[in-house]
Amino acid sequence: MLVKILGSAAGGGFPQWNCNCPGCQAARLPSGQRQSRSHQAKTLTQSSIAVRAYDGSWLLVNASPDVRSQLEMLRTQQEFSSSRSHPIAGIILTDAEIDHTTGLILLRESSQPLKVYSMPSVKRSLTTGYPLFSTLQNYCGVEWFPLEQKMTLLGLEIEVFPLSNKPPKYMQHQSESEEIWGVGLTFRDRVTGGILTYTPGLAELNDSIKERFEASHCILVDGTFWKNDELPALGIGSRTARQMGHLPLSGDDGSLAQLAKLSVPRKILVHINNTNPILIPDSDEHQAVKAAGIEIGYDGLAIAL
Ligand code: MLT
Ligand code: MN
Ligand code: ZN
Repeated sequence: MLVKILGSAAGGGFPQWNCNCPGCQAARLPSGQRQSRSHQAKTLTQSSIAVRAYDGSWLLVNASPDVRSQLEMLRTQQEFSSSRSHPIAGIILTDAEIDHTTGLILLRESSQPLKVYSMPSVKRSLTTGYPLFSTLQNYCGVEWFPLEQKMTLLGLEIEVFPLSNKPPKYMQHQSESEEIWGVGLTFRDRVTGGILTYTPGLAELNDSIKERFEASHCILVDGTFWKNDELPALGIGSRTARQMGHLPLSGDDGSLAQLAKLSVPRKILVHINNTNPILIPDSDEHQAVKAAGIEIGYDGLAIAL
């Protein structure tokens, strides 16, 4: 299996257009003003990955507002053979959040209906609260398929497991209790046996998820926030990380300490918010993540499993 991180930032990207937090400033430092090379932070686009079996086509997992430039990363020479072609055979959505779905509208030039796999709650969101599917019916159209607990797509066995029952903000008024809004995905390549688990929105790290992680060769895990009160402390939001459905990295019960104990060959953080100090290369937090044996995901990182 081939995995490519297309975007490892959370919503807003890094730097975010209206943000002057220390991280965004570090990502914007003009080259003449760099205190040291190590202080310069890599810019990052918004949360998305692509996955494929060695002999299969790419599946796009989450469609970010940066999808146009992200899909360029998947282009190969073969695709130039006809005047209209693109590198993805289907799109899986792990949730209905704006940062994971907005890219769909940017794919409207497709000559075929977009094949989209999601939970029913996500389909409902994208036909009512944020009606991208309805809008796309007048362009390329959408062919929707429900995500099944176990399914096989393009040579990959996929397991879908629930992660969140928090609706996006724009659906809070029409949410049913206990409905599944966010899922994680485990991909297994039938030929190589390589296993990837992807959890961009992780609210808690319970035993069943830890077991799933330990059975994987690589995990891509929610690295949104360092601290629970990260946004309120910066004066740029009222909700805590946990209230937003993201387990913070720091603290005794944070994800970093728990992930450090797991034996998984590669543990990589994704969906990293621009306020998270791990994005500043010479920060203590960045060093703490590295010291725990955990990688900080970046755009273009390719993994073969
Ligand atoms: C999230 O990951 O929690 C959402 O994308 C936050 C948002 O509304 O931008
Ligand atoms: Mn998000
Ligand atoms: Zn920022």
